[in-house]
Parts: sequence; C-alpha cells; structure tokens
Amino acid sequence: MSFPKNFLWGGASAANQYEGGYQDGGKGLACADLISGGTHTTSRQITSEIKEDLLYPSHEATDFYHHYKEDIALFAEAGFKAFRLSINWTRIFPKGMDQEPNEEGLAFYDQVFDECQKYGIEPVVTIAHFDVPAYLSKHYNGWASREVIDFYAIYAETIFERYQNKVKYWITFNEINTATLTIGNFLSLGLQVGETAFIEQPDDPEARYQALHHQFVASAKVVSLAREKYPHFHMGCMISYMPRYPYTCHPNDVLLAKQEENMHSKFCGDVQVTGKYPYYAKSYFEQQGININCTKEDEAILAKGTVDYYTFSYYLTLCVSADDNVEKNGHSMIGGSGVNNPYLEQTEWNAMIDPVGLRITLNDIYDRYQIPMMIVENGIGVSEDLTADGKVHDSYRIDYLQKHIAEMEKALADGVDLIGYTIWSAVDIVSASTGEMKKRYGLIFVDKYDDGTGTLARYKKDSFYWYKKLIATNGASLLEV
Ligand code: BG6
Repeated sequence: MSFPKNFLWGGASAANQYEGGYQDGGKGLACADLISGGTHTTSRQITSEIKEDLLYPSHEATDFYHHYKEDIALFAEAGFKAFRLSINWTRIFPKGMDQEPNEEGLAFYDQVFDECQKYGIEPVVTIAHFDVPAYLSKHYNGWASREVIDFYAIYAETIFERYQNKVKYWITFNEINTATLTIGNFLSLGLQVGETAFIEQPDDPEARYQALHHQFVASAKVVSLAREKYPHFHMGCMISYMPRYPYTCHPNDVLLAKQEENMHSKFCGDVQVTGKYPYYAKSYFEQQGININCTKEDEAILAKGTVDYYTFSYYLTLCVSADDNVEKNGHSMIGGSGVNNPYLEQTEWNAMIDPVGLRITLNDIYDRYQIPMMIVENGIGVSEDLTADGKVHDSYRIDYLQKHIAEMEKALADGVDLIGYTIWSAVDIVSASTGEMKKRYGLIFVDKYDDGTGTLARYKKDSFYWYKKLIATNGASLLEV
C-alpha cells in the first residue's frame, strides 16, 4: 500500500503566527495582537491596548503579508499540493461585526489564492485559527456571547461567497477542543474564545464550555449554509488530538486514560461529526456541576450541520496514572494525572515523540466516524540556527517526519481514509503557546528572532529538499535521507 494518487501533501500555517501586517490594508485589532512575546521561561502578557515598551509577535510575525508571492513560489518548488492557511477575521471585518466587509482585506486573500491557483496548490482554509477580533472580546466577552455566532456566520458567508471558485477545503475552527483546556500558561485558550473573562478568571469551566457550545453552533450553521449554497465545498472540524495511554495495565489507569481522552480529544469531534453531545459528556457535565444553555434550536442546528471530513493536529501522546503513589508531572491536559512515558523521547519543549501513536490515532478516529481524514498539523519545534553559508541541517526533523509518515502509510494499509498531510509548519512562524520565534517548526527558515530583529530572508532547510523528493515520488522515497 502506498499513498493515494491525489494525496494532498503540503504545509500549514496560521494568520496570527505568520501574516504580520497587523495594521496594513485596513485590518482591525485581533486578540492575538494584544499578546506580548515570551520565552521558554518568561510568560507573555495580555494587554488591553498596545504598549510601546512591549514586543508583540503577531504584529510582524514572519510577514507572509509582504512575502506571500515568494513563499508560495517556494511551496510550489517543494511540490506542495496543498497549503493550509487561516484568514484573519479582522482583515475582513475589522471589528468582527462591521456593516460592510473591508475590500482591501478581501482583495489580499484573492491574491493569495490566485497565487496558489497559478501553481496548482489547493488552499485548505481555516476560518478562525485562535482568532477573535479584539472588539468582540471587549464588547461581547468573545464567544461567551451568543451574538458572536451570527457575527461569525456573516464573516463565513462573506468569504464563502467571495472565494467560492478558489477554495474548496474549509475548516471551521482550529483546535476547537482547546477552548476548554485548563493548563497553566497555554495562551491559545484566551485566543481561541477571546474571552476577557478567561484572562481574569482562567478557571471557569462552565463559561468555557458555554463558549465552546456557541462555537459548535456557529460551526454547524456555516456547514449547513455551505451545503446548501456551495455543494462542492468540503467542510471540516479540527481537533488537537492527544491520545492518552494508561501508565500501567491496571484497570483504573485504563479507565482514566479513556475518560481523559474522551473529554479532551474525542468530545468535540463527536459533536461535530455526529451532530449531538455524546453521553459521556453529559455525565461529565453533571458530575462537574456544569450547565450548558443548549436550546432546542441549537440541537437542530448541530444535528444538521455535521462536517464531512475530519482534520486534526498530532504532536504527542500523553500517559496517565490513577495511582496517587506515582509521581505526576502535570503533562495531562485535564486533571494533572500525566506521567512521563518511559518508552518515548521528548522534544526540547517536552512533547513526547510518538510516531506509532499516529497510526493508533488514525485507526481510532476512522473506526469511530468512517469519514475522510486529513492531518493538518504535525511537526517538531526546535531551536535552530543558520550555518554561515545559509543552511539548516535539520536531520532531526527529517527523522521525525520520516517516522510519522511511515506510520501514516501503515495506517493507510490498515484501511483508513487519509486524504492529506500538511506539515506544521511550512515556514518558520511564531509559536502559539510561547510566542517564541526560537521554537522553529518550518521547512523554511526565516531570519527573525525573539527580540524582533532579523531581515525576514527565507532559507530552505535540509528537510525542505527531503520533503520535495517525497512529494515528487508520492511517498516512495520515504526512507531515503
Ligand atoms: C497547535 C496550533 O496547537 O500547535 C498551532 O494549532 C501551534 O497554532 C502548534 O503553533 C504548535 O504549538 P506551539 O505552541 O509550539 O506553536
């Protein structure tokens, strides 16, 4: 078994981490534009307005806004079949809810998609990737308010109508399940839902689940709209999938791993693919005393607007223990039951590297839903430097990709329906969780550093050439280095 003929090989990105040009072309402020930089050891700050003495990574990022032609030409050189990007909501509606869309913003993405079309690259577009207009955060407390559902629907309808002949693959929300994460300093939380309340009271699970509910309804609404008006669209969900392993074969560990994986990784996909809340979520809410306002009308919208393909990010697996005597390291995203997996290596940023886990995940998801799947994020963040002659010898990245892609091939042989793979990330971009440039994921190095300096020049890493050959041979050169 090898890769299907039309397999969508490519790379991925997100507007707030890549685009920059945060005030160009009439763009409004997004929540991401108000989060300052941090480092491995220092945390980021969320400010209510832009402060002169702070550095905000999203403002310039790696400047796709001014480099899109050059970057898309590089993607074409690598042979990309697909390029995943997100649209900046505030480029289209500066406040998120303006009467009229911003023509300059719409025109920018026209040019981006035209450039993709020129090279036969399929855009895979995320409508909201950790992206909430700052105005909606300030005046509506972001997704905590029901009104935001309609603002999002208008935004989605506007871009569907405009790009209907240029974009077929859509994703409604990036990593929708991160809206409910309660882990320490993971800032995409606030970004995902744009709630000022989250910033002040980061541990209000009921508010988070209500905000998430509004996103479910918004997603289902626009999926139904697409189905009626643009039947050629593919409408997908996007889940941050982190499998949980039991630390031992003790039934309590096995049960805990299942429960955590259900509520973290399966729950949102279950809602978006099956159109209703799963039974275990209802009992979880009861136990936690969480009440969600879900109207009859919401239920009907959810049931109607189910997605037709399932996309996910895959970086790591977690391991959990129910035993009080086992020392925990807080790796688990819900409940602090995480333990280091002794069989796996970790990245510099403590992600457990687990290629076989990807095969397990693909089989699990396919077994559950039997709809096409796309891996829209997978990759390794490493601090790396250019050599004096402008190279990055990233053999570790090649090794990482090789091992994960080998497991994808095995999963295809198992019989799963996997239609594409976009590496995180095509180009070096700002890290979502830490705001660092130093945590580089790209196939293409960008001369940009944590202190904001750099020429923004692009350099192809060794992995770029390796991936290029892999795409050209549709996976046949996998084991060649
Ligand atoms: C995913 C996000 O969580 O992981 C991306 O969808 C993010 O936006 C990626 O960049 C890697 O995480 P980080 O925090 O290392 O950038």
